[in-house]
Amino acid sequence: MPTPDVADDPPTDRAYAAELDDADPLADLRDRFYVPDGERYVDGNSLGLLSADAEAALETVVDQWRDLAIRGWTDADPDWFHYGERLGDRLAPLVGADESEVVVANSTTVNVHTLVGTMLDAYGAETVLVDDLDFPTDHYAIRAQLRQRGLDPDEHLVVAESSDGRTVTTDDVAAALDGADVDVVFLPTVLYRSGQLLDVAAIGELAREHGALFGVDAAHSVGVVPHQFDQHGVDFAVWCSYKYLNAGPGAIAGLYVNEEHFGTTPSLAGWWGNDKATQFEMRTTFDPAPDAGAWQVGTPPILSAAPLSGALDVVEDAGIDRLREKSVALTEYLIRLTDARLAEHGYAVGTPQDPDRRGGHVAIEHPEADRISEALRDRGVVVDYRPPDVIRVAPSPYYVTFADVWAVVDNLATIAARSLFEEYERETDGVT
Ligand SMILES: Cc1ncc(COP(=O)(O)O)c(C=O)c1O
Repeated sequence: MPTPDVADDPPTDRAYAAELDDADPLADLRDRFYVPDGERYVDGNSLGLLSADAEAALETVVDQWRDLAIRGWTDADPDWFHYGERLGDRLAPLVGADESEVVVANSTTVNVHTLVGTMLDAYGAETVLVDDLDFPTDHYAIRAQLRQRGLDPDEHLVVAESSDGRTVTTDDVAAALDGADVDVVFLPTVLYRSGQLLDVAAIGELAREHGALFGVDAAHSVGVVPHQFDQHGVDFAVWCSYKYLNAGPGAIAGLYVNEEHFGTTPSLAGWWGNDKATQFEMRTTFDPAPDAGAWQVGTPPILSAAPLSGALDVVEDAGIDRLREKSVALTEYLIRLTDARLAEHGYAVGTPQDPDRRGGHVAIEHPEADRISEALRDRGVVVDYRPPDVIRVAPSPYYVTFADVWAVVDNLATIAARSLFEEYERETDGVT
């Protein structure tokens, strides 16, 4: 059964949402998740939900720990020693990479440190291009890496500026590259606030023409948008597993290193990046793994990696292309309903209309976004607010229904029409 097409001008009644749900080939996937009772959970781009699969995988490791203790590293089935590599193998198809190019390790922020640091050291790179709408941790980490090499970040971090405050186009990147001597382009695949999906292939080509390396932060896309890193000229990538991969809070992160860079020395060396064949010879000189495994640092947190193993069963059963199709249909429906029902209440869509330029969430803008988000939460609709005026709605294709999307829009309409947000204090949240 193909994913249903959302009509260009969809009926705004609840019955149409039910029709779309009835025609959804992935509708049963939701039954594998613990969806909080009575909630419309559209915050899966901050923290994805627990599945029974992820829970079972975690319980398996807990059982192994109890029964095998230290022997789990070798005797558990599957063994813990190769846990990071095995999960990397399973993630590789989601990002269009060879198994040797992907591993899970560390956190996203640590992976930015080690991969950008590696590129700076290995190729004598001195200048990194980012953009002004990035998730802040990327800038903090890159600035620190530049500083540690005696490079003033105010000079060596070039910031591409968005022309509309919501999106970063390939032209914006080209304009920033023009006249600047950039060695590494590091950009997100999907902007965390607006949900724009950048044109990775076009930017990869641009970077190559400029003679620059190209890295991406794919935290907001892996698990919901299929990637082709090998084909699209990506040199290295980082992402987290707690959003669309549903692996749990603080779950182990993923990284990709194009095989062209195998053999470069990881800037954050540690014994878990050592070649497995010689790791337990315990030599004091580092003998890096011949592949992406070299960018692991310390002992992997098996308890925060185990849920990813179960969570990937769900991804593999559904198929990343079908997940993407459903995600596009959900965001399309959300955007069309917002245009039809919410514009009159002062809401605007801040995410590109072109589905090829959208990730998994939609930014709905309103001057009272912070207080509206609070009112939504009290009505059982879990979204998050990003200053100054964005309500992020992430209809994760794993467990969000078209009826949920209809209900979110209906609540947004009611809250604005009756000024229900006025019952709440104004506040500015932190950013995650
Ligand atoms: C684009 C992006 N990069 C990085 C992070 C955070 O990285 P870490 O898992 O190291 O906290 C986030 C968190 O939401 C993010 O959205």
